[in-house]
Amino acid sequence: MYKKAHESLYLWYKKNGRHDLPWRQTDDPYKIWVSEIMLQQTQVKTVLDKFYFPFLQRFPTLSDLAYAGEDEVLKQWEGLGYYTRARNLHKSAQLCKDSLPVSVQELIALPGIGQSTAHAIAAFAYKTPVPIMDANVKRILYRIFAIKKASDKDLWKKAYDFFDTDRPYDFNQALMDLGSSICTGKAAFCEDCPFISVCKAAEDPLSYPEKKAKKTTPVRKKHIVIHTYNDKFALRQRNTRFLNGLWGFSEYEDSEEISATKMLGNISHAYSHFKLEAQVHLHKSYIEEHEWFSLEEIQTLALSTADHKALALLG
Ligand code: ADE
Repeated sequence: MYKKAHESLYLWYKKNGRHDLPWRQTDDPYKIWVSEIMLQQTQVKTVLDKFYFPFLQRFPTLSDLAYAGEDEVLKQWEGLGYYTRARNLHKSAQLCKDSLPVSVQELIALPGIGQSTAHAIAAFAYKTPVPIMDANVKRILYRIFAIKKASDKDLWKKAYDFFDTDRPYDFNQALMDLGSSICTGKAAFCEDCPFISVCKAAEDPLSYPEKKAKKTTPVRKKHIVIHTYNDKFALRQRNTRFLNGLWGFSEYEDSEEISATKMLGNISHAYSHFKLEAQVHLHKSYIEEHEWFSLEEIQTLALSTADHKALALLG
C-alpha cells in the first residue's frame, strides 16, 4: 500500500542516512543492544563521543558484562545518567549468560527492554520484521496520519500499517534518521521529505502531534557537605531508587543541620524531573556511617555528575 513511499524513503536513506554509525556497522546483537539502551535517553552525539566505544572496550562481550561487578558497570556508565539502564543492562547480561535471546518475547522479558527497544534489537540484529516506535518515529506517524493525540496502542497499529516487512532494518533506521533531521519537533522540511506525497500533515506539520502543556521543572535546593579527615573524604553508596548504587557526599536539606563549615561554592545540575541547586561546604571532622577515601580512591568510584561538580570545587 505504501510501496512508493517506502521506495522514496530508501532512496532518501541511501543518500542521507547516517550509515557510519558504529552500531550500523556491526551485526553483533550485544553491541546493538548496548547502543539501543544508551540511545534510549541520550542523544546520538553524546553516546558516540563519550560512551559507546569505552563501554565496549571495557566489556567487549555479553559474558564480560555478566561477570563484571555492578560497581564497575556503574563506573563505566558514569556521566551518562539514568543509571537504572546500566543496572538493568548488567542484570540482563547475567540472565542471558552466553547470548542475547532472538525472539521479541524473550527480549521484552529482560529488564530495561520495552517493546520498541525489543523491536529495534530484533530488527537490527536479526532482521525480524517488526516496527519500532521511539519518540522520533512516533512523531512521523502522528504527522503522516494527521493524528493530534493517540494512545500507544493505536499508534502501534499505525506503525504496523505503515511498516515495510520486506526491509525492517532499513525501514526502521531510515525512519529514525528522518525524524532527527527532516521531521523534527521544532521544524519540518517537507520539501525534502520522501513522504511528501502520503503525509496528511504536510500543510501544517508542526501542529501534529498536539503539544502537551509544558511542565516547569521544580528546583530542589540542598546542601552538599564534604566531610574531610586525615586527607580522606566521607562518601556513602546510595541505596535509594534515585541514583541507586552511585557514591556521593553527605546531603542536607537544611542549613541548620550543618555547622562549622567552609563554603566552597554552588553547583547546579538538571535532572529530567527537577533541577538541583546546591551549596557545597567543606567540614573538617570525622562522621560515622560513611566510608573514607583518598582523592585517588574516589576516582575509582562511580559518582553522580552533581557530586563530581562538588568535588571539583575542592580545587
Ligand atoms: N536511536 C535509537 N536507536 C538508534 C539507531 N539505531 N540509530 C540512530 N539513533 C537511534
